[in-house]
Amino acid sequence: MKTYLVTGGAGFIGSNFVHYMLKKYNDISLINIDKLTYAGNLENLKAVENDPRYMFVQGDICDKALVEKLFKDHDIDFVVNFAAESHVDRSIREPEVFVNTNVLGTVTLLNAAKNAWEIKDGFKEGKKYLQVSTDEVYGSLGETGYFRETTPIDPHSPYSSSKAGADLVVKAYFDTYKFPINITRCSNNYGPYQFPEKLIPLLINNCLNKKLLPIYGDGLNIRDWLYVEDHCKAIDMVINGGRFGEVYNVGGHNERTNIHIVKTVIDYINKNVDSAVTENLIKYVEDRKGHDRRYGIDPTKIREELGWEPETDYEAGIVKTIKWYLGNKEWMDRVTSGEYTKYYEKMYEAK
Ligand code: NAD
Ligand code: DAU
Repeated sequence: MKTYLVTGGAGFIGSNFVHYMLKKYNDISLINIDKLTYAGNLENLKAVENDPRYMFVQGDICDKALVEKLFKDHDIDFVVNFAAESHVDRSIREPEVFVNTNVLGTVTLLNAAKNAWEIKDGFKEGKKYLQVSTDEVYGSLGETGYFRETTPIDPHSPYSSSKAGADLVVKAYFDTYKFPINITRCSNNYGPYQFPEKLIPLLINNCLNKKLLPIYGDGLNIRDWLYVEDHCKAIDMVINGGRFGEVYNVGGHNERTNIHIVKTVIDYINKNVDSAVTENLIKYVEDRKGHDRRYGIDPTKIREELGWEPETDYEAGIVKTIKWYLGNKEWMDRVTSGEYTKYYEKMYEAK
């Protein structure tokens, strides 16, 4: 019976991970600590809220006393740190909270885990801290080549630099104390429960409401898209099989320009939902400051060492995802009411 401390489990990837793990394993228990920022939503976890293997704690990963208490009250085996401020555009407007949660929150978790797991000659057997990081720490690629685990860290946004800062502290815990860690660096995820500030759910929501589809710059920036369950599968494999101290890149070679994504979403909605949704909704707007041009992951290491392969290809995954949002309009309506609308009105005024 292994006990997981999952942080940020009410967000997009964290909630998918909670579902994935409880479905896959009977003999685990899972504690989810989440601050419930604008991006956290307990509705994402409704199906498991009464599961005896699952427990929710509302709290901040920067709250040292709370985090220490979790380690005192539970024999935690694995920490999986998803909790983060995750949106690049917000980091450009409000960088401080990114450093706070993403760097200081990570150190708080590392320290509490280190104190709880330390024994005379090292650390208790079977423990591990996994930092969920991002390909954005590597910066931006030109037209060729891929990010490997050995690619130098070169972040450009306040978001990615805070994630890179956290990665370096996690690495330092291994280098200094031999503290058992792994870091995963995944490419862009898509799938159910993603907050509609991110490209794909934002496009779907705007199409359904016949709002303009804002494309930053020339629309030719490239992201490497991975279906969220394939990321969850990779994290599970790294927790259970990753070599201590190692970084694992996660990605499925699904590079697409932003304009390609936009046209795919328009095309599906035009054919299946509303023929009035056309490319006329596309609006090219001012580019994101410091906008990384291209991301592309080389997943050779995780494939060769752990046997990870993605299971959902992009064509199937994007249709599955659009259908999920179409089937969960109430979810979309609730998360896009109130603060969301105010934020976007302000944001588009600024562009
Ligand atoms: P998200 O914004 O959807 O969710 C973040 C969650 O963390 C929310 O539930 C929020 O309430 C919680 N949170 C924020 N600050 C907190 C704090 N101080 N204490 C406790 N909880 C807090 O993010 P996501 O897209 O699910 O990303 C999860 C992780 O995966 C992040 O670390 C992100 O950097 C990383 N990542 C994301 C992607 C992607 O494409 N979305 C790709 C690679 C890596
Ligand atoms: O690569 C992994 C990263 O992917 C994660 O670490 C981040 O947490 C996650 O938010 C995501 O970052 P991106 O900046 O790549 O995702 P976003 O959905 O914000 O934007 C995807 C691309 O689409 C990017 O090139 C900017 C562009 N874009 C985005 C929005 C929201 C637009 O053109 N218009 C938009 O309205």
